[in-house]
Amino acid sequence: MPSTNHTLLITGGCRSGKSQYALTRFQNFSGKKFLLATAEALDEEMTGRIKRHRQERGDDWTTLEEPLKLDSIFQKEPSPGSLIVLDCLTLWVSNMMIGKYSDEEIFSRTDQLIRSIKQYPGTVAVVTNEVGSGIVPDNAMSRQFRDLAGHINQRFAEAFDEVVLLVSGLPLTVKQGMPPSEKLQSMETPHAFPETEKQGVYNAIYQRRDMRHFLPDPIHPKILGRILDAAHHAGSVGFMQPWNFIVIDDPAIKQKVYENFKQASTQGAEQFEGEQKELYLSMKLQGILDAPINICVTCDSTRMGPNVLGRNTMPETDLFSTSCAVQNLWLSARAEGLAVGWVSILEKEQLKTDLNIPQHLQPVAYLCIGHCDGFYREPMLQSKGWAKRLSLEELVFYNRWEGTAGEFKIVLPRPPEEPH
Ligand SMILES: Cc1cc2nc3c(=O)[nH]c(=O)nc-3n(C[C@H](O)[C@H](O)[C@H](O)COP(=O)(O)O)c2cc1C
Repeated sequence: MPSTNHTLLITGGCRSGKSQYALTRFQNFSGKKFLLATAEALDEEMTGRIKRHRQERGDDWTTLEEPLKLDSIFQKEPSPGSLIVLDCLTLWVSNMMIGKYSDEEIFSRTDQLIRSIKQYPGTVAVVTNEVGSGIVPDNAMSRQFRDLAGHINQRFAEAFDEVVLLVSGLPLTVKQGMPPSEKLQSMETPHAFPETEKQGVYNAIYQRRDMRHFLPDPIHPKILGRILDAAHHAGSVGFMQPWNFIVIDDPAIKQKVYENFKQASTQGAEQFEGEQKELYLSMKLQGILDAPINICVTCDSTRMGPNVLGRNTMPETDLFSTSCAVQNLWLSARAEGLAVGWVSILEKEQLKTDLNIPQHLQPVAYLCIGHCDGFYREPMLQSKGWAKRLSLEELVFYNRWEGTAGEFKIVLPRPPEEPH
């Protein structure tokens, strides 16, 4: 697939400013510009409208007219780096309906058109209409048209890089695209998740927060099961799966752990001085009693015996593996809308005693889990001024410690804006 392909869907109601948006947006487009019109001048009104549109566009646009076989235009007109604005998709749908195409045929042509557009070595903007917002049409054909247009719009929106909704002349980006210059060939692997699923994964990653404020509402047992299973699907050295999960809801046990925290935190505060100490003491660093569920994730170094594939030279990989399980749990909980807070301000031996953890096991993470009013928009330690996210650029080296990039090409994303 060409690396310069960029696809934009412009949608909105009638006279919402869609065509104008396309013209303005691509006013300074440096390559060849094609307007692919699906309208046919079958009556006077349409003839006048087509003429008016041509005048508005100006001479730098080449008009192509094709009511039905749009697919062929994208296949035979490839002019690398050019722009095709297809105006509009809904007329194409009605042209097919008038041509008595079956729904199946229309959907199959839609998928073929999307494939051809995605192969096009340039920019493609498709103008369509949101026709489904009003009352239900009173006749079957209009209802069929409304339904087809809605489903087809969805297919385009799913496949396209960017979607803009026009409301009273104002553009609202409903799906953010990536500029073609930033698109890399390797990003277009056929094994990638569909765009919305991919976005879901990144949402979980970027919107995961360490939480210390919880609501008392119980967690549904099925959801608890799902997040534990997500944890259990983490990678582990030699497939060792060294973890156990102690799920705690007993207030008496929680109270013991909380006492442990209080003591450890008082000692912890002593490590700091002045304003930093004050700030430390002002921050809520746990939600042990508030969260309906606490989970202690442990690591059993003896699991699978003395010889674990891959662990001989780095025995601590059992702990790394357990941390991977914790991260899985944390992300899956975020996707489920549940807050997780990791508490490490605990005296380890005391925790083992309070939870009856056998001596040869290590508690790796003590997690508070529950519902919340809302997720912090940025790490609490950042919003309180304790620490800031470091620049990724300064943390990435090339080939050796502190090695610089040279010809190496990595496009680091712009630092995600915080708060999200
Ligand atoms: C190993 C580990 C131990 C942590 N221990 C605590 C803790 O005892 N108390 C606390 O408030 N946060 C704790 N955190 C949460 C971090 O403060 C938090 O992850 C960090 O500030 C970044 O914020 P974010 O997780 O919301 O992105 C811990 C996190 C990790 C990974």
